[in-house]
Amino acid sequence: MKIENEVILVTGANRGLGRELVLASLKAGARRVYANARNPEQLAPLVDAGEERVVPVVVDVTRQETLDRAAETAPDVSLLFNNADVVASHHVLDSSTQAIEQDFATNFFGVVAATKTFLPALERAAAQRRAAIVNILSVVSLVSAPVLGGYSASKAAASSLTQALRSDLAPRRIQVHGVFAGAIDTDMTKGMNIPKASPVDVARAIIKAVEADVEDIYPDAMSEGAFATWRRDPKELERQLAGLSG
Ligand SMILES: NC(=O)c1ccc[n+]([C@@H]2O[C@H](COP(=O)([O-])OP(=O)(O)OC[C@H]3O[C@@H](n4cnc5c(N)ncnc54)[C@H](OP(=O)(O)O)[C@@H]3O)[C@@H](O)[C@H]2O)c1
Repeated sequence: MKIENEVILVTGANRGLGRELVLASLKAGARRVYANARNPEQLAPLVDAGEERVVPVVVDVTRQETLDRAAETAPDVSLLFNNADVVASHHVLDSSTQAIEQDFATNFFGVVAATKTFLPALERAAAQRRAAIVNILSVVSLVSAPVLGGYSASKAAASSLTQALRSDLAPRRIQVHGVFAGAIDTDMTKGMNIPKASPVDVARAIIKAVEADVEDIYPDAMSEGAFATWRRDPKELERQLAGLSG
């Protein structure tokens, strides 16, 4: 799906990969980008950069009433980036059940809720042209990184959800992409001493792959390597990610 003239919504757009997805969408010619944040003041730099094409929307993906309000503000969305995420838990046995629930509330149920909320808009767009959903997943959707055990489980669940939505929405001409990103240099990986891709490069690679209609997207060197290992020997990737430390 070409981005030019499309209307995009990015959840979690005030920093990290989400911010770069907004900028990359503008660069690719999006007509309008709804940038979501819980605190709209943090969107000011994006609004300034957007030459009147960036519209802030205040959403907490775990609160349906905020999504409902955003659906009224943004009735013309044709491409939804489910990007917002948290890492609330770490090793499963050392994390509270509440922390693991928080990972699922945002990273799985937040994706379900945002998708259902914007589905009418996506259906309207698909009836006229095309529409798409892009779920930002992770290499830990393929195998767990036990140092992020709760988060990994939530991202694996989001990958399964992506497959279910892809099948359910194909008859409605809504394409569903999954992005199995490797480590990205954002706040999320601040404490991790591992090679990380630039969020600018990852966002550009995602846009390019969406425009090329790639369903399962591996947008950086780490994710490409992980996928190659996983295809050859899934247990080898499981061992590799088990060796990661926080
Ligand atoms: N960084 C990595 O290494 C990496 C690797 C693979 C995949 N990913 C995926 O890439 C995506 C972006 O991650 P990132 O690295 O950019 O993370 P990040 O820098 O931690 O940013 C997370 C974003 O999500 C927002 N957010 C969190 N909970 C939210 C909620 N309930 N409602 C609305 N927004 C919420 C945050 O807003 P606040 O500022 O309000 O907290 C922030 O804008 C995520 O899906 C993540 O799983 C990241």
